[in-house]
Amino acid sequence: MSVGTTGENGFYNPGHILLIGFMGSGKSTAARRLARKYGKVSFDTDIGICRMLNKTVPEIFEDEGEQGFREHEYEYLKYLMGVDSAIVSCGGGIVTYEKSRELLKHLGFVVFMEVDPDEALGRIHSTVTRPLLNKDTAHDLLQSRMPLYLESCDMRFDTTGKRPVQVCNELGAMLEERGLL
Ligand code: S3P
Repeated sequence: MSVGTTGENGFYNPGHILLIGFMGSGKSTAARRLARKYGKVSFDTDIGICRMLNKTVPEIFEDEGEQGFREHEYEYLKYLMGVDSAIVSCGGGIVTYEKSRELLKHLGFVVFMEVDPDEALGRIHSTVTRPLLNKDTAHDLLQSRMPLYLESCDMRFDTTGKRPVQVCNELGAMLEERGLL
């Protein structure tokens, strides 16, 4: 079981496992399942932010714009610096904010949950809670974010064609092999 450590750079690392990736890549379900299987706590940045502000994601976008939402994501990541060794599902656009990308490096081990964009769209039944999801632009949005996901991650995991139970078993085994679970 990993616990927080202080690295050579002097930064405290709380030892989280953080899941990043596009909307529909299965981050939230995987975080919940992994946490249940390995007796850990899970966090979801979208849920945390909405609870703290008592608003929905579209309401936050409406009131404060995307920039405001990204700043809330960053603040939530700062809050997670004070919690140890959890599984964290991060909102799909968290890597677009430089300060959040920087902080992710100090929070733990980052897994990029890859998915084919068509499959991601098929998995998402409601676009109501995702103001940035548009079926016509999803491919381009994923392409434009790809370098950010790649530079932010410690490991890639392809979820395409896999059911949640398979994602949990395979990813859990890979993280166990690395001594992270
Ligand atoms: C977003 C992804 C969403 C949510 C918001 C913005 C994005 O989270 O944070 O709608 O910019 O990709 P999920 O990836 O959990 O759907």
